[in-house]
Amino acid sequence: MITSQTLTWHAAAPVASFPADGGACVKIGHRQIAVFNFAATGAWYACQNQCPHRMQMILSRGLTGDHKGEPKVACPYHKKTFSLCTGENLNGDDYQIEVYPVKIENGMVYIGLC
Ligand code: FES
Repeated sequence: MITSQTLTWHAAAPVASFPADGGACVKIGHRQIAVFNFAATGAWYACQNQCPHRMQMILSRGLTGDHKGEPKVACPYHKKTFSLCTGENLNGDDYQIEVYPVKIENGMVYIGLC
């Protein structure tokens, strides 16, 4: 179980580095992390950059949107779609991605990692 005590917050990049209503990839340690700025709602999300379908480092360039009120990203290669809240695959496949908490402080984007 993830608690605030087990999380470490890592500075990713300034808010201005991320496109509005789009994503960008940051590297923290050995991890590539896709960060999404849902400017229309003011919400931010982060997940692994690697798509589990064909192990491509691509999700930061995916298409973002909404699935029944849940924020999602669709891989640009074969359109596997994932919840950015739970990491669940929304096509009914067994694929799952890791998602990470995001916070904004003083114009900087932070990712919470265990
Ligand atoms: S590589 Fe992402 S859906 Fe196939």
